[in-house]
Amino acid sequence: MTMIRMSNIHKYFGSLHVLKGVSLEVNKGEIVSVIGPSGSGKSTLLRCMNQLEKIDGGILEIEGLVVEAAGNVGVKVSASQQQVRDTYRKMGMVFQSFNLFPHMTALENVIEAPITVNKMAKTDAVKIAERQLAKVGLLDKKDTYPSKLSGGQKQRVAIARALAMDPDIMLFDEPTSALDPELVGEVLGVIKKLAEEHMTMLIVTHEMGFAREISDRIIFMDNGEILEDASPKEFFEKPRHPRIKTFLEKML
Ligand SMILES: Nc1ncnc2c1ncn2[C@@H]1O[C@H](COP(=O)(O)OP(=O)(O)OP(=O)(O)O)[C@@H](O)[C@H]1O
Ligand SMILES: [Mg+2]
Repeated sequence: MTMIRMSNIHKYFGSLHVLKGVSLEVNKGEIVSVIGPSGSGKSTLLRCMNQLEKIDGGILEIEGLVVEAAGNVGVKVSASQQQVRDTYRKMGMVFQSFNLFPHMTALENVIEAPITVNKMAKTDAVKIAERQLAKVGLLDKKDTYPSKLSGGQKQRVAIARALAMDPDIMLFDEPTSALDPELVGEVLGVIKKLAEEHMTMLIVTHEMGFAREISDRIIFMDNGEILEDASPKEFFEKPRHPRIKTFLEKML
């Protein structure tokens, strides 16, 4: 089953053409890493997927529903507004900068969306939150405020928070790049665990070894375009595009 299909997506910020006809598919259970130089449009791609940005052209389908269609594409949105909202709720997003609520404990951060968005009873939300905090190894920190957590712990709470909404797809935008090197492993470990459970994931990362190890496919973006969409083996061993060779030489 195709979880996400982007067809010829265009995005502008003013006169800046940031996504220049991007097409990609993510199938159920697939782990896709997105790599590429700074400013190439990786974050914008993720933000267009989960409605944080509107697209200016192309078709966005999520779980078989056309949730956005822009420009002269000959297709109309097939999802109702309610279906569109439901679809996006099924997408968990984890940012580089954690984005936890500072005035809430770890547990309060995790129960917030299930209660306010999904109208779940507090006792049920707490059960789910404790399960997710245990999964990321932080049940003992449930009553701790973000200011007393390390970066790696904060990011693991952020992952637990996304998981508490029972997502079908997890989107990660450079989840480890704000972390001290010794804290990267604990966050990658949690993502690896999700991979073993066959969570569908799209991960923007600069961690080449990690991307190679866990991805089914690697997408390389440069200047608003996808230059490569290949298996990790092909990507790292026989990159087709000279831009990728140059990038990998710098990164490795
Ligand atoms: N809200 C915005 N308004 C205007 N320009 C933007 C906005 N967001 C991003 N851009 C521009 O769009 C281009 C792509 O940005 P984007 O953040 O998607 O790149 P990226 O590949 O994620 O880079 P990085 O690796 O540094 O995170 C950049 O030129 C950026 O300056
Ligand atoms: Mg980015």
